[in-house]
Amino acid sequence: MITRTPPLLEVNALKKHYPLASGLFGGKKGAVYALDGVSFTLEKGETLSVVGESGCGKSTLGKTILRLVDPTDGEVFLDGERIDNLPASGLRQMRRRVQVVFQDPFSSLNPRQRVRDIIAEPITNFGLASGSELDDRVAALMDKVRLPRDAMMRFPHEFSGGQRQRIGIARALAPGSDLIICDEAVSALDVSVKAQIVNLLSDLQDELGLALLFISHDLAIVEHLTHRVAVMYLGKIVEIADRRTLFGTPHHPYTRALLSAVPVPDPTIKRQRVILKGDVPSPINPPSGCRFHTRCPFVMDRCRVEEPMLRSVPDGAAGQLSACHLDGVPSLG
Ligand SMILES: Nc1ncnc2c1ncn2[C@@H]1O[C@H](COP(=O)(O)OP(=O)(O)O)[C@@H](O)[C@H]1O
Ligand code: SF4
Ligand SMILES: [Mg+2]
Repeated sequence: MITRTPPLLEVNALKKHYPLASGLFGGKKGAVYALDGVSFTLEKGETLSVVGESGCGKSTLGKTILRLVDPTDGEVFLDGERIDNLPASGLRQMRRRVQVVFQDPFSSLNPRQRVRDIIAEPITNFGLASGSELDDRVAALMDKVRLPRDAMMRFPHEFSGGQRQRIGIARALAPGSDLIICDEAVSALDVSVKAQIVNLLSDLQDELGLALLFISHDLAIVEHLTHRVAVMYLGKIVEIADRRTLFGTPHHPYTRALLSAVPVPDPTIKRQRVILKGDVPSPINPPSGCRFHTRCPFVMDRCRVEEPMLRSVPDGAAGQLSACHLDGVPSLG
């Protein structure tokens, strides 16, 4: 019998529906279909970026994996073990291995704690070290995120946004995590600082064999960091592929529209700009059939009634999956 090593993270048909407040007479008023059947795997040491416009369910995906919110349905496995239904005692162990870095480091760092204590807290909480060993570990983490050691005794407000994000990353690494979920972790930073933090994450990943689930509304920033990309639209993954394929030969019309807004470094190459008509529909009442049909330049009758499943792209790259009824990709011209 061949035993397969399970992926580090496996997400299977994960859903999170936020119920709407019930009506005057207690009648149900429906739900926000924030996450509506998302599946993917993430290997040890791999980066998967999750991209899509604001409100498509990226943060809900991260929070549901972390069990900051309970899933409505579906399964999540860490190293082959279910973690979506863990009791409180098991959650603690899971959180030692899966950490998060949010967009706004200021609000996620305790302003009254010194940097040393912020970084030491998870180590102490999980009983991983104390005394001089704890000091050594904190010092090593400061080095890893390239913060000067003398910064240890200072408070978060004394740092710039980029440095605060380094503190957040050190804290996320502190318990010896295997997976870090970065939710818009660089989105609020200036362009040059963004690049520095992306480089830091990339180096740490190489050095420590970390896996990253890198959530971003900005497709451009993930190009230099990621191994694979998943594109989300209204609570679902519409396309998933390795980086080269997704940026080079995307299949789904929504991916192509998002990409058309990404600047190309080489000025001699022009990407055809696709302007999507209309706004993103509400996740309370998502469109029938293909959820993208209200904005798709290639919409056909079938798209309004039949939901396309995520499937291998005909003649596509290995592992390229797209949820679209089109076989080929028609020209935009
Ligand atoms: N606690 C909540 N209660 C109700 N709706 C929510 C809640 N959190 C998020 N939503 C809704 O779920 C959808 C997805 O939100 P979110 O996951 O934050 O998207 P993203 O991170 O991609 O911007 C949005 O329509 C948002 O308004
Ligand atoms: S299934 Fe139809 S509407 Fe949806 S993306 Fe494909 S062509 Fe467009
Ligand atoms: Mg978000």
